[in-house]
Amino acid sequence: MSLVDGSLGRRTLLLASDRGDQSTDLARILSVVGQVEVVSTRDIPDAPVKALSGVVVDVDLKSPESVQRLRRKLVGKAYQSIPRLFVIADTMHHGSTQAWALGATDTIQRPFEEQAILRRLESSFSVIAEKEPSSASREALNRGVAAAHAVLVRVFEKLRAGVALSPDDIMQEETRILKALKRSSLKEWVLAVSRHHNRSYRHCLLVTGFAVAFGQHLGMREEDQRRLARAGLVHDVGMAFIPLGILNKAGPLTAEEEETMRSHTRRGFDALSAQASFPREMLDVVLHHHEYLDGSGYPDRLRNGEITDIVRIITIADIYSVFVEQTRRQPDFTRQKAFAIMEAMGDKLDMQLVQAFRPVALGS
Ligand SMILES: [Fe+2]
Ligand SMILES: [Fe+2]
Repeated sequence: MSLVDGSLGRRTLLLASDRGDQSTDLARILSVVGQVEVVSTRDIPDAPVKALSGVVVDVDLKSPESVQRLRRKLVGKAYQSIPRLFVIADTMHHGSTQAWALGATDTIQRPFEEQAILRRLESSFSVIAEKEPSSASREALNRGVAAAHAVLVRVFEKLRAGVALSPDDIMQEETRILKALKRSSLKEWVLAVSRHHNRSYRHCLLVTGFAVAFGQHLGMREEDQRRLARAGLVHDVGMAFIPLGILNKAGPLTAEEEETMRSHTRRGFDALSAQASFPREMLDVVLHHHEYLDGSGYPDRLRNGEITDIVRIITIADIYSVFVEQTRRQPDFTRQKAFAIMEAMGDKLDMQLVQAFRPVALGS
């Protein structure tokens, strides 16, 4: 069923706006999914009306008065279970931290693009009915997953056989991967790749999905999404050199096995850098995706500014993908718990990025 058909007409959305124009452009887009009530932060009702599906906040988050009023009204029991979509000035800076502190479920930025906002509403406001994937989006999804899988098979098999790799082995399928995540959804991607029986491929497919979806969520341009796709695909190439007995071991690893496992970063890096044509950025991701900002990671114990943005993103996608696998084995280990563990990693991860990743993680 479609998001825009008549059956959703009775939903009510509260649009809190302190803007002079009362956010008319946004109100018009929101009216596609339901009745929109526009109020200033002063006039937000103390308790939500019964049919309220969600709150959309479009105020200047640098204004202490507006923020205080929002905190008084929204951060409390009454609105606790109501999803909130915040309009922020800039995903990476002040506004976004403020929005998450005020309980944002998701964020959007200007300029508004109608379809993108409707997709956001769909994923963050669970009350809005889920869309059955159309056959076109299903096809895009299948093609994207198959393409990514083909890359992994090619890369791992070539490395194990000692055959030279070229960046093209990895980059030629990027378009299909981007399309799959754009036309379908991360949720569908995760479902599709979770069925894959090979643990290493499954993991790399998950990381690629989370990284690209995160890039799309942050509004990155297509070239940057491509960089994330190739980084996700390639990050664990060094696993090609780890004995299968260790890779597939069911129980905990011995200290020695753990050491061998950790060598995948260096071995992957060595294999790719022996071939002059790989971009530095890919090498950086392969070598450093287990580094932490506080210097406690491996193999080089890098700190803060020594860790590049793309590596930070892949590290987050990598950790969360491991948790997602765990949620499949342990039903009581929920996505919320997984995300909370990541938040509790504090100084190890880039917390602004972790917060921006929240809707991607929980919406998947
Ligand atoms: Fe790794
Ligand atoms: Fe990994």
